Amino acid sequence: MNLFLDTADIAEIKKVHEMGLLDGITTNPSIIAKSGRKFTEVIKEICSFVKGPVSAEVLATDAKTMIKEGLELAAIAENVVIKVPLIPEGIKAVVEFTSKGISTNVTLCFTANQALLAAKAGATFISPFIGRLDDVGYDGLELISEIREIYDNYGYETQILAASVRHPIHFKEVALRGADCVTIPYGVFEMLFKHPLTDSGLAKFIEDSKKLTW
Ligand code: E4P
Repeated sequence: MNLFLDTADIAEIKKVHEMGLLDGITTNPSIIAKSGRKFTEVIKEICSFVKGPVSAEVLATDAKTMIKEGLELAAIAENVVIKVPLIPEGIKAVVEFTSKGISTNVTLCFTANQALLAAKAGATFISPFIGRLDDVGYDGLELISEIREIYDNYGYETQILAASVRHPIHFKEVALRGADCVTIPYGVFEMLFKHPLTDSGLAKFIEDSKKLTW
């Protein structure tokens, strides 16, 4: 499963990149706003060292302007993926980007039917938001299983990029359910390492190692 970070924080991105585990980055307008920086400037800086897919989201809601914005974003670097909301105008724009060979990430996906439409449009990635579904009383993880089954039924190559991941159980479950990629905040990445038995086991090994000679 490819591991993406859901952030525009350069320091966080560098930590995972330097560990050698980073496959790509996702951003959205809220994440970019949090950085307090100019949109295109942040995307450019991320792409200067991240070579995997970097999602940058269009701001418009009509296909014509989405395409114009998307082309500008795609010109920043060859690994920029144009993120487009799952609305009819967005799907129109995805069809156009697909015809031009530009990669897309269709975002704000909350149903299997929406995911099917995105795949038909030729989307490179589909982003089902599992945490936000859980928040309103639906089963976000079940959506991953449904999309996997439908994509496999028809051989769609659109990659399932599990998004809105809030904790390690989400992470494990999307892997078990066959998501191709997952995008997580840095805080969740740190949690993946943690287990009390790892900490206590290491403390004991360190203590006993003092009795050893090399
Ligand atoms: C994914 O592409 C989105 O940026 C993100 O995962 C949304 O997560 P949130 O629901 O925690 O804001």
